Parts: sequence; structure tokens; C-alpha cells
Amino acid sequence: MARFSDVWLSELYTKSDIVDVISEYTTLNERGGNYWGLCPFHHEKTPSFSVNREKQLYYCFGCKQGGNVANFIMKIENLTFGESVELLARRCGLPMPQMIDDKQYRQVKEKKQQIAAMHKLAARFYHDTLMAPEGKTALGYLKRRGIGEDAIKRFGLGYSPDKWDSVASLLAKNGYSAAQINESGLVTAKNDKVFDTFRNRVMFPIINVFGEVIAFGGRVLDDSTPKYLNTRETTLFNKRRNLYGIDLLRRQRSIKSAVIVEGYMDVVSMYAHGVKSVVASLGTALTKEQAVLLKRYTNDVFIAYDGDEAGEIATGKAMDILEAEGLSVRVIRFDEGLDPDDFIRKFGMAGFAKKVKAAPTTIGYRLEMKKHEFLLDTEDGREGYAIEAAKVIARIDSPIRRERYAESVADQTGYSVASILSQMHKKNSNENTNANYRYNKTEKTAADGSQSAFLACAMADVRRFADVADDISAEEFPLKSHKNLFSALYDSVKRGIQPTNAELLSQLEDEADRNEAARLMGIKAAVDNPLVFLKDCIEKMRVERREREREALKEALRGAPVDEQRKLLAEIGEIDKELNQKRFE
Ligand code: UTP
Ligand code: MN
Repeated sequence: MARFSDVWLSELYTKSDIVDVISEYTTLNERGGNYWGLCPFHHEKTPSFSVNREKQLYYCFGCKQGGNVANFIMKIENLTFGESVELLARRCGLPMPQMIDDKQYRQVKEKKQQIAAMHKLAARFYHDTLMAPEGKTALGYLKRRGIGEDAIKRFGLGYSPDKWDSVASLLAKNGYSAAQINESGLVTAKNDKVFDTFRNRVMFPIINVFGEVIAFGGRVLDDSTPKYLNTRETTLFNKRRNLYGIDLLRRQRSIKSAVIVEGYMDVVSMYAHGVKSVVASLGTALTKEQAVLLKRYTNDVFIAYDGDEAGEIATGKAMDILEAEGLSVRVIRFDEGLDPDDFIRKFGMAGFAKKVKAAPTTIGYRLEMKKHEFLLDTEDGREGYAIEAAKVIARIDSPIRRERYAESVADQTGYSVASILSQMHKKNSNENTNANYRYNKTEKTAADGSQSAFLACAMADVRRFADVADDISAEEFPLKSHKNLFSALYDSVKRGIQPTNAELLSQLEDEADRNEAARLMGIKAAVDNPLVFLKDCIEKMRVERREREREALKEALRGAPVDEQRKLLAEIGEIDKELNQKRFE
């Protein structure tokens, strides 16, 4: 990513004043040294979006997102970092620099453009073929499945002829070399032979947020296998980072929520029936990258996977992934054997709207699943369910929401709300908390702790940070975003650079990292003696890390075999000694 030189970027940032740039998107008013306006990224009535001219940062206290001017453009224009920088440079009339890593970067970019151009040709060809006499059977198949011409056009569906070289020869005719064609993924090489990857299949073009066809999914017209073929990974196509349907979703005016389904057909069919914000992952389980992508457009999602056991398991995993990215998730389940396509064809938009309305939150859904594991008309069953339910409720942060769920469990089991809530605080009721819950918890405690204080102070005074940089290592930061931020700072000072906040932000590739960095940059880190403060923080972080390690050892102690226990106890004793010593220092 670091393709622009620090010097050039800093000139760009100087010329692209953040207040001027953002004012083109939302009205800003000065108040108390900061500029305030309505956040362009979420709907609000009172301004919680702040822009700091001095630090060249924006931060929204409502959606907790922020960054520098390039990050703002990335988000609002849906561009990559490189593209936003280009846009800003054009805006202020700064010539684009000789890129660092020039050649390699340009080669990759050219290759991507080439593959996209080939896919455009192929997509048009497949679509025309579907509409031609040759596509009659495929067209009939789609029609039989309730897919009309409108949806076919909207999704650019097509048909790949039952020949070995239709696309290969089309591309060759258009001047592409054998090597280039091979890199597109549209053909497959095997035993010295090269042939079209997709033959005699209904074609689903996979389109990215720029509206480019980057890959295909192809379905057979009968029951043969494999049912679907997908383009292999290429320079252009990364299946973990794209979602089927994202282009159409992105083009909606206002997106209230999105539905995630499992299949291409589900997306097309739901869309045809009026559910316009619908996406599917690409032949793999939902990934973190896809959750991040979706979050660019909406914060509310409904998981609507197939009504079978695989769908149920996938639902559990998708919930965790989406929640870890901070999305608010509700769950729709269909009767056994039905997928979203079957359902909406049977019950229509009205039926689906009812499902949406009744969809439980993830907590409600988890409680429901637990309930099925117990026989509530027995004493043991009610007790077992109450205990399990307490673990689920323990995931909720809000005490009021906790109580609401506890009440419903109390109703069902006959135990009091009070004992369900206190069961929740029992040590082992946290046992089965998933990664997501643990993630949120550390996020919270650490965000107010010494790591945050350290980083805030370090960014405000990079010179002092340089003095202590070698006394601390990345492992002291349990949060990934803090770790990355620390590494970026560390790398800079090692290169002899004292980055401004804006420059530091452009080194962070992950949006979550930038948001957290912007938050920390906004903290008023006015300390009397930064050097002493940083050293104190380092000491605290070390103690905290040892305490975390101690906790982990204690956790491991439970259920460990005897000789293992002895070893663990010794290690715990070691830590205790060390921590005690510190207390008297
Ligand atoms: P499904 O089998 O549920 O397919 O697989 P579907 O989209 O509902 O298709 P129909 O209704 O049977 O025509 C869900 C998704 O899993 C991937 C595809 O992305 C598919 O849309 N998949 C499935 C494959 O990649 N390969 C396969 O062989 C099967
Ligand atoms: Mn299906």
C-alpha cells in the first residue's frame, strides 16, 4: 500500500485542508476550536461529526469512525486509498508523483485492468448467447425457476456454450495473448490443453463495487456435479473480499439493512421478488473481509441461510463474524429444506416481510437454540436451560437488555430474574463465551487502559515516543488495532521519521485500525512530563500483561492433569512473586 513517498503525501495533505474538503460534503460550523457538522455517514439530527483543522483529522462520535482527509474520501466516495489520493491530488492541482515501487505496482494494476477487460468481453458474450437461439434451453431453465428478463438483465446473467473454446477464441480474436488469457481464469490449462473453464452453464457474473465483472459462478442446467463452478483466484479476484450482489446493493439510494444469503440463485430470486439489498458470499463461509465490506453500506443485517443443518451451523459462524465487526445482526430461519429462493417463491415478499419482522436478535436466537436442547417440562431441564441461558445473557453489555432477556427466561423456567442474573456472574458462566464476546470485552477494558493512554501520548509527542520505543514491544498490546498502530509508529521512528497524525493514518491499512487511531488522536493527551508518563504506562502495561498471563494459567489449571497442575502452579507462583515485588518497588 505504501506507494506514495512520505514527502509527496505530506505536501498533498498540506494542500488538501480537511475542513475545506469535508465542507464540500457537509456543512461545518466552528465551535470551541473544532468544526462540527451532521455526519455524512450516518443519519443524525444533531451534529456529532467533528473536524479538527490543526490535527487534520475527522472523527464522528456517533458512528465512532474517523481518519485523515484521504480516509474521508475513501469512505464517502467508496474508493481505495490510492484512488482517493489521486482524487485529492487532482482537486488541488498537485501532479502525481513518481510512485515508489512504481514498476511492480503498475504491473499489477495493468494486469487487473486487463483481466477486467477480458471479463467484460466474456460477460457480454455469455449474456448475448443466453439471449440467442443457442441459449434457449438455459433461458427456459431460468424462466422455469421464476427468473424473468428483468432480473436477467439486472444481474447480467448469461450462458456459456457447450464448446471447449468459445471464450478462449473470443479473447484471442480480441488480441489477447495465450498467457494473458490463461491469467484471466476464464480458461483452464490441463495436460498441455487449454479450454474454457465454463461450458454449458448458466453464468452469474460476480461484480465488484466499481461495477467491474471480476469473476463468474456457473451453474449446471441439471443435477450433475459440481453444481457450481467458480472462477479460481486471480490477480483481480479474491473470493474472500467480495460479495455477490454488492454492486446492486451499493447503488441503492438508502440502505436500511441487508440480507445475507448463501447462494447466487437466492440473491437473484430475492431481488426479483423485491428484496433489493441482498448479498451472498462466494462459495465459501462468510469472511471477516466480507463483513467489513458490507459494513461500508449498512449496519443492520439479516442472516437468511438455508433451512438445513448446514445452514444452521453456517448461521452460528456468520453471527460471530458479523458481530465482531460491530454489525447488528438478526436471524431468519426457514423450514427444513427451504432456502430463501424456495421461500420467497412460495410465500412472496409479504411472507418474507413477516419473517423479517419476527427475526430474533442473535441473543434471542441463541436462547431459542439452547431451549431446544432441554426438556422444559422437567425440573432438570428447566435448571439446565436456566444455566445455559445465563451464559448467553452474559454476552449482553446493557444491564437493561440483560434484564429483559432474563425476564423471559424466568418466565419459562420458574426461576427468579435475580437468580438468573446472579448465575450470570458465576465464574464459569463465562466459559463458553465466544471469541466475539471476549473481543468486545478486551476492546472495552483496554480502550480505557494504559495501552490507550500510551498510544495517545505517543502520537501527540512522537519525539518522546522515540526515546522509549525500544523499551516496549508490540506484544504488550492485546488489541490488534493497538498492535498495528504501535508497529506503524515504531517503524516510522526507526526510519527516522516523526509522522504527523495524518501521515500515520495513511500507513494503517485496516479501516478498524484507522478508526481506533483517530479516536486516540482525539484524546487530549495533555500530560506534564510525557517521558515519565510514557514510562509509567509501559510499566503498567507490563504488569497488566503478567496479570493476563496469570489469568490464562489459572484457567488452564482447571481440568489439567496433576503433574501439569504442578508446573502451572509454579508458573503462577513466579508471576505472583514478580508482581509482589513490583508493588514494593
Ligand atoms: P446452494 O447449493 O445452496 O446453491 O449453494 P443455490 O445458489 O441455492 O442454487 P440452486 O438453487 O440449487 O440453483 C450455495 C452456494 O454455494 C456455492 C455457490 O456460491 C452457491 O450459490 N457452491 C455450491 C459452489 O461454489 N459450488 C457448488 O458445487 C455448490
Ligand atoms: Mn437454491
